[in-house]
Amino acid sequence: MKLFRFKVLGFALIFACLWSCSSSDTTTKTDEAMDQYVTELVDKMTLDEKLGQLNLLAWDGSLTTGAAANTGVSQKVEKGLVGGLFNIESQQERRKIQELVIKQSRLGIPLMFGQDVIHGHHTVFPIPLALSCSWDMDLIEKTARAAAYEASADGIDWVFSPMVDISKDPRWGRVAEGAGEDVYLGSMVAKAMVKGYQGADMASDESVMACVKHYALYGAAEAGRDYNTVDMSVLRMFQDYLPPYQAAVDAGVGSVMTSFNDINGVPATSNKWLIEDILRNYWGFNGFVVTDYTAIREMGFHGVGDLKTSSALAIDAGIDMDMVSEGFVHTLQSSLEEGKVSMETIDKACKRVLEAKYKLGLFKDPYIRLKKDKVDSQKQKELMDLALLAAQKSCVLLKNKDNILPFKSDQSVAVIGPLADCKKDLLGTWVLSGELDQVQSIKEAVQQKGNILYAEGAKLTDNEDIAKLINYNTKGEDDEALLKKAVLTAKKADVVVAVLGESAAMSGEASSMADISLQATQQKLLKALVKTGKPVVLVLVSGRPMTLEWEAENCAAILQCWAGGTQTAPAVSGILWGDYNPSGKLTMSFPRKVGQIPVYYNMKNTGRPFYPGIKYTSRYLDVSNKPLFPFGYGLSYTSFEYGDLVIKDNIMDQGDTITVSVTMKNTGEYAGEETAQLYIRDMEASITRPLKELKGFKKVYLQPGEEKTIEFEITEDDLKFYNKNLEYKVEPGEFQIEVGSDSENIKASKIHYQL
Ligand code: BGC
Repeated sequence: MKLFRFKVLGFALIFACLWSCSSSDTTTKTDEAMDQYVTELVDKMTLDEKLGQLNLLAWDGSLTTGAAANTGVSQKVEKGLVGGLFNIESQQERRKIQELVIKQSRLGIPLMFGQDVIHGHHTVFPIPLALSCSWDMDLIEKTARAAAYEASADGIDWVFSPMVDISKDPRWGRVAEGAGEDVYLGSMVAKAMVKGYQGADMASDESVMACVKHYALYGAAEAGRDYNTVDMSVLRMFQDYLPPYQAAVDAGVGSVMTSFNDINGVPATSNKWLIEDILRNYWGFNGFVVTDYTAIREMGFHGVGDLKTSSALAIDAGIDMDMVSEGFVHTLQSSLEEGKVSMETIDKACKRVLEAKYKLGLFKDPYIRLKKDKVDSQKQKELMDLALLAAQKSCVLLKNKDNILPFKSDQSVAVIGPLADCKKDLLGTWVLSGELDQVQSIKEAVQQKGNILYAEGAKLTDNEDIAKLINYNTKGEDDEALLKKAVLTAKKADVVVAVLGESAAMSGEASSMADISLQATQQKLLKALVKTGKPVVLVLVSGRPMTLEWEAENCAAILQCWAGGTQTAPAVSGILWGDYNPSGKLTMSFPRKVGQIPVYYNMKNTGRPFYPGIKYTSRYLDVSNKPLFPFGYGLSYTSFEYGDLVIKDNIMDQGDTITVSVTMKNTGEYAGEETAQLYIRDMEASITRPLKELKGFKKVYLQPGEEKTIEFEITEDDLKFYNKNLEYKVEPGEFQIEVGSDSENIKASKIHYQL
């Protein structure tokens, strides 16, 4: 059977290694008390009750997050036919349903309440892509902890986060939800978030269970089109896409959500190789696995079979919980009778779900997270301060010609653009419980800074097809009138701040875009503003990298503020007027043109690397190979100078550590924070290797004129990679070591590793 699986996937040889590395029994529980409790409970359960635990339903209220919702949920709950519910609006409602199941169902097994708490709950933090630009793991962990605090106080046990799908394709709308293109950084973010959500004790009433998603490779959807096919070599998976999921497992994540896409011909939701062989056996995951929304039902559209076949395939592949499809409850009994599914498999899945409830403390107290009133005001203030810091640290200054920023206090400023007076769009995608009354628009925040003029300038878009899908009303004032007013307003000011980009609905799920430039209405506005001759500072609200060639050429400054959450607007105004010195660094490359996608920093060299002026090299005739803004890039109001790399002994023997030091100096006039990045290139290996890979970074805060020497320790682990037998190993030879302020702007040296 195992061999068959490998053959089907075409990986027979490669997996000889994987299989031999895998531990044969990862389901051994250290917690004997839990094992005993759960086993005894399962022994008492009828088949219907067991299948009920595997049934995760969307509440039939207003927070529907998918194409279909379940119906008659209360009746099913009462009969014990539901294991968990998600996206319910209030704590009161959750409490009512928990009471129903505890009092009415035969065994009174508590429900587990899930929710898409992705970047904050009531207090909204920057979208994950933005937050990753802080490169600040402590901050990221704190935001997840804060989200856990608010969500648990609301009766939520389980959050569908972190989303750790690596993506190199900004057309994919869901890049907003992840940590960008890099596997090293993505793995660190995955760990920080799991730690933040689950805390030291998942059974605490201030912790929630995390759910790492979407397993696997969802971010590699062909052409950046959501839900699309993924076809990828196993080597690439292991090198560039799988480590963040593994990092979440290493951090003790309680649950995993499979993805919608198929992988090399097998839907992720029925992919036994992914779930059993890699996740459970190779990585040692011992939590439970849930599908994504209606993913079992969707296997019919993948062409794999009807609901019954798909359900049998899914549970056999290692899925424990079926989200919304209701395939398990409706079909597994007959598959069992026909011998297509075993009772042992159903029991295993049921146990894993019950174990999750046990770990969450729900058997001790089903109301553990259903008791609190509002978060107290001191805590509320702390959360708002954290949201401000997170929003500030997420902003990336992309251009600042002649130091136009920060503004001087006597400058008059015109704030113009369709996103200048919006609140909801600053919160970003996945905001089910965000509180809008805590949010200021950018216009409101900058008005506190002095002499501010305002004009809307343009509609977000005049593309009726897009408008319909994102729920945007294109009616309103005539375009020409809006533009005219904006130009008049701009002419009255010393500088213009153009607040442009995407609404919250233009990124996130089901929001892929083939054209990631500014909408035509906004381009027209920006061109008219630039034509006034006033310096234009572009403040870009977006959930993805956009193509900004013209903007980068013609605007005086660009501040990428993404959707920074509840405190976006104060963060932006503070940065514009110099109360805060920006320090964010991109975690995804910004392409010049869509045709370059995927363009990312850790490409390989090819056999014909680009050479200026030479045709038969790996290049485009019409555009550079380089992105407009590279991975790791971001400016500050001050400047940092890097000295040469100092490596005392550049011969590394087995087991050695090499120290690389570099002196950094703040050569500007503002105190500021810099993220020094360490990249390594393996110059010669048994397989082709990337031009560089991020292997470390250090955040350094320097006063004007201050100098500090920082050190990076390089160990064998930093030189390892998956070879063609999928062994994670270091090979002897030369390595280039680079340290710099972004992936292109570096100082380099060499070391030699020998056995
Ligand atoms: C999304 C998931 C989400 C789930 C539940 C799906 O459509 O892909 O990320 O957690 O819905 O709302």
